[in-house]
Amino acid sequence: MRVLVTGGAGYIGSHTVLQLLGAGHDVVVVDDFSNSRPAVVGRLEELGGRPVPLLAFDVNDTDRLAATMSDEGVEAVVHFAAFKAVGESVAKPLEYYRNNVGATMSVLEAMLRTEVAHLVFSSSATVYGPDAPVPMTEDLPTSATNPYGWTKVFSEQLLRDATVAHPWLRVALLRYFNPVGAHPSGRIGEDPADVPNNLMPYIAQVAVGRRERLAVFGDDYDTVDGTGVRDYIHVEDLAAGHLAALEWIQEHDRALSVWNLGTGHGTSVLELVHAFEEASGRPVPYDVVARRAGDVASSWADPTRAEQELGWSASRTVAQMCEDTWRWQQANPEGYPAV
Ligand code: UFG
Repeated sequence: MRVLVTGGAGYIGSHTVLQLLGAGHDVVVVDDFSNSRPAVVGRLEELGGRPVPLLAFDVNDTDRLAATMSDEGVEAVVHFAAFKAVGESVAKPLEYYRNNVGATMSVLEAMLRTEVAHLVFSSSATVYGPDAPVPMTEDLPTSATNPYGWTKVFSEQLLRDATVAHPWLRVALLRYFNPVGAHPSGRIGEDPADVPNNLMPYIAQVAVGRRERLAVFGDDYDTVDGTGVRDYIHVEDLAAGHLAALEWIQEHDRALSVWNLGTGHGTSVLELVHAFEEASGRPVPYDVVARRAGDVASSWADPTRAEQELGWSASRTVAQMCEDTWRWQQANPEGYPAV
């Protein structure tokens, strides 16, 4: 299959590109490097053993996207390209709606023009909103507490409506829990442009000495040790979930599918800190500070639907997530080179 991957130079996108290549698919990446580095491409080619065609433009350019899809003979799209920082989305809502919802509209319109039916969309567990019970199942109502979350809710709704109007579409909405880890080679991984917002890259930067101490946002939640509990999923398992979903929608006649991609297990902030200390042999000093606005106590998936329908489940442990993150962080303490 010839697959167009938007945001294929980003964290989850790059790991998925590599697995698509490994499964024998041809890949065309579209990425404007707004939150990724051109150096990723060379590493993908080195690991994948073949050229990775990359076109650097904004997917909101619908004409260029549609032209690329017809010129390249694209048969399916995996759409990652989006902004993803919750706090920034509160400060810049218009940018988030324009970039994220706009990009989904643009991808959809280009698919309709060129009659490409298959789309795997990068959604998030954030669409379950702040009051969802755990474990979270796909049929819970959707909601959000910040513009980033709403862009995922609205994009999902847009895609849902499109499958009603164009029932030949085959769309998968993948709701990720907390992706962490890196390719076992240590050559590709997560490279936050600024101070990390998320826990795992922050821990990794403390362990490697790039930051002094971790701030733990609250230890008075109703959880195992009072710190927030999340469903961390290895990015390699997550990438494998995209392949499984892509193959499933090729083979089945259901216009819209929704799958959680998580492990079904929760890990607290302090459990992750200790697992990372174990994996790295480095201390991760921390201070407990106030809760972060908008955080929930616990979030983890019910991954049963993906297991039953896709035959996919996450197999990598929290220890492996930490080991692989550490290998990447040690080999690339400042992230990708700027060239
Ligand atoms: N945390 C800290 N210190 C930090 C960063 C995080 O203690 O420096 C804690 C948080 O309070 C939370 C846990 O670590 O308990 C995980 O926080 P992350 O920011 O890594 O992940 P979130 O679960 O908050 O966010 C993730 C995605 C978002 C998405 C959200 C929806 O990163 O894109 O899930 O729940 F919107």
